[in-house]
Amino acid sequence: MICDNITTAANGHLLFAGQDTAALAREYGTPLYLMDEDRIRRNCRTYTAAFRRHFGDRARPLYASKALSCKRIYEIMREEDMGVDVVSSGEIYTALQADFDLSRAYFHSNNKTDEDIRYAMDCGVGCFVADNAEEIRAIEDEAAARNIKQSVLLRLTPGIDPHTYEAIATGKVDSKFGSAIETGQAEEITAFTLRQPHIDLAGFHCHVGSQVFAEDVFERAAVIMLEFIAHVKAKYGCMARQLDLGGGYGVRYVESDPYLDVDAKVGQVAASIRETCARLELEIPEIHMEPGRSIVADAGMTLYTVGTVKRIPGYKNYVSVDGSMADHPRYALYGALYTCFLANKMNEAADFPCDVVGRCCESGDIIQRDVSLPASVGRGDLVAVCTTGAYHYSMASNYNRLPRPPIVMLRGGSEHYAAVRRESPEDLCRNDL
Ligand code: LLP
Repeated sequence: MICDNITTAANGHLLFAGQDTAALAREYGTPLYLMDEDRIRRNCRTYTAAFRRHFGDRARPLYASKALSCKRIYEIMREEDMGVDVVSSGEIYTALQADFDLSRAYFHSNNKTDEDIRYAMDCGVGCFVADNAEEIRAIEDEAAARNIKQSVLLRLTPGIDPHTYEAIATGKVDSKFGSAIETGQAEEITAFTLRQPHIDLAGFHCHVGSQVFAEDVFERAAVIMLEFIAHVKAKYGCMARQLDLGGGYGVRYVESDPYLDVDAKVGQVAASIRETCARLELEIPEIHMEPGRSIVADAGMTLYTVGTVKRIPGYKNYVSVDGSMADHPRYALYGALYTCFLANKMNEAADFPCDVVGRCCESGDIIQRDVSLPASVGRGDLVAVCTTGAYHYSMASNYNRLPRPPIVMLRGGSEHYAAVRRESPEDLCRNDL
């Protein structure tokens, strides 16, 4: 199995986090996002323990809440002693509703509006991750008006190709994010920031990409960032107190994806940091990382009900489900691969080749191509798509006026509760005047 929270019961029903998916579908309806709360917590603990072990007590993983943002997730992050990365006033607002301590929040984005900056300061967001000089100017102005000194990290691009989908690679020199070290712009913005009286330059940030498995990407990024930090210390007398290496560790969507041992990976990054700091005679800064996908992806599963099965002899077969690209956008956007099962017929041989498709009026509305399901697949059967905890609910839309599915949390092997309710027709028209 791609993840050990997926098993099969004797009656041929797929179990997720030990619970019968057919029973959950009956109770909550489909399409349905399931989240395994125990797995989310376990993933958080893997990071917090690895950070403590390898980086020491001051280091902290920051959950990149763009992967899944809802009140319940910030409550879990609060309980698990995680920091968070937020990217909009909406994420800040949601975290606030969960009583999340925003002094532990890092505010990203390449284009924070003046309203965002004001709102984040009103809410006491701990640190801004500034992308460019324009933002530094705007943060300085707002901090000056409030007569405060705002803690800021500068987002830099270390010039590394992380070997992932082009759309989610961000650390290359020509990226829309951050200032490149290679072109000298990183140094320029650093010097500029150091001249601002109401900004406390706490350190530097980089994020090379997402769904990254490639060897030593984070180690190489750390070395480049530390060399830059040493340069800034020597030239400007400013020692970065924090180094944030971003998120990006990959997860298993299909059997051919490798297993990633987070503890071992963090250990390797820590070793590289220790070695580089010793060589450069630098004290080791407080290290942060921002895992999003690897905290929530394998804690998620989507359930759909099959509507029609279309056989086109000599060509292909389509299995249409009651969801779509509106709740499952990553195939349409990235051609992302997933593992699918017929969740109520796990005991039957899966030898019927088909594309699982959505209900939107659009040919590109594919859940997954080239899937094998049992040949008896038909109306009323249940399709499960695995590893959908990250970038699904958070990227879902109402395209074709489809209501967004609910999120049901599973815990302790038998408990379940709705964390986000299903949208209603009234919700769809709520903003229409
Ligand atoms: N930190 C920063 C600054 C980021 O931009 C991101 C993701 C993360 C952390 C978290 O990365 P993760 O650990 O989740 O890989 N929608 C795309 C992914 C976009 C990632 C954007 N940034 C997808 O569905 O694959």
